[in-house]
Amino acid sequence: MQRRPSLTDSLGRIHTNLRMSVTDRCNIRCFYCMPEENVEFKPRDEILTFEELIRFARITSELGVNKIRLTGGEPLLRKDLPQLIRELHKLNGITDIALTTNAVLLADQAEALKQAGLDRINISLDTLNDETFFRLSRRRGIDKVLEGIQAAQEVGMRRIRLNAIAIRGLTETEILPLAHFALERSLELRFIEFMPLDADDNWGSQAVLTGQEIRQVLEKEFGTLLAAERPDASQPAVDFKFASGEGRIGFINPVSEPFCDSCNRLRITAEGKVRNCLFSIAEWDARQMLRDGSCDAQLEQLIRDCVANKKPAHGIDTPDFEKPKRAMYQIGG
Ligand code: GTP
Ligand code: 5AD
Ligand code: SF4
Repeated sequence: MQRRPSLTDSLGRIHTNLRMSVTDRCNIRCFYCMPEENVEFKPRDEILTFEELIRFARITSELGVNKIRLTGGEPLLRKDLPQLIRELHKLNGITDIALTTNAVLLADQAEALKQAGLDRINISLDTLNDETFFRLSRRRGIDKVLEGIQAAQEVGMRRIRLNAIAIRGLTETEILPLAHFALERSLELRFIEFMPLDADDNWGSQAVLTGQEIRQVLEKEFGTLLAAERPDASQPAVDFKFASGEGRIGFINPVSEPFCDSCNRLRITAEGKVRNCLFSIAEWDARQMLRDGSCDAQLEQLIRDCVANKKPAHGIDTPDFEKPKRAMYQIGG
């Protein structure tokens, strides 16, 4: 139950959405996110425990957060994740818990996650092709991912979304196969523009395959896409229905059409750094406070300071843009 004023920044954006990374580890190595080899993961004792994550989530829920998304790295690598989900469900005010996963381990865990009350899951699926999967992720495993998607449907998860990264020169060929795959299975698909959050610094604006371009490819195949209702004004995605009225397809266009003016998202990294933006340079250290006996009011002040210092927008398109030192796997997506 919210007892105190909301987490409002200087532009009036109210933060109700918490994205918690539960690990920086991953079982694949997507080039748009991680280095290929010699990744330095945080030692276990630096990663927040479940107790610490739950306390942090509870404090934010008392400040108006109602949605939590668990991310990584790959969150399914975190032992006993269903237990964390069960505990988060008990928090007053949290009405929506979701997970973002690469699904490599999902077939084994779908049932336990569902039992824990999770029915909202976003699965990264950039391609259906084994070789392209290997080129993107530098690991084998598309068959596991597809089994994971099937398992999620079989255990009755009702809100499954597929996320596909869009990179020029690489993923154009994947657009139609992914759209047909999603349509046939009644799954919602979203294309995400490549952002400068890759560990190896390969991002360039020319590599951004824009949502507009993808839409044109889709419309040639399926006819004009129809604007879908927008249940959440802060959601990054713009969603459409196919001309036939079936299916849903969406675009997350942070580069060509930034959505920062309606951002309601607060993030905490696996080792407890609170961030007000994917692209923020500054971070606020919640772990220190969670471990040094600080009280809830002190943590609340840290969270408020973080939100108060949020910039209006990411500024990727501005000359003084500074790429964060953290890559996507170290933030949580
Ligand atoms: P729903 O809650 O299902 O609407 O999904 P979501 O868009 O919140 O979550 P998801 O984790 O599926 O987000 C998909 C991708 O969109 C992320 O991995 C990021 O690449 C991008 N994204 C999500 N939130 C933000 C954001 O606040 N800023 C930017 N620039 N990109 C974001
Ligand atoms: N740009 C855009 N999205 C990214 N993701 C990871 N790295 C990037 C990036 N550089 C997204 C993936 C995945 C989610 C976990 O994060 O598409 O779905
Ligand atoms: Fe929010 Fe930053 Fe994403 Fe903009 S780039 S929507 S401010 S997290």
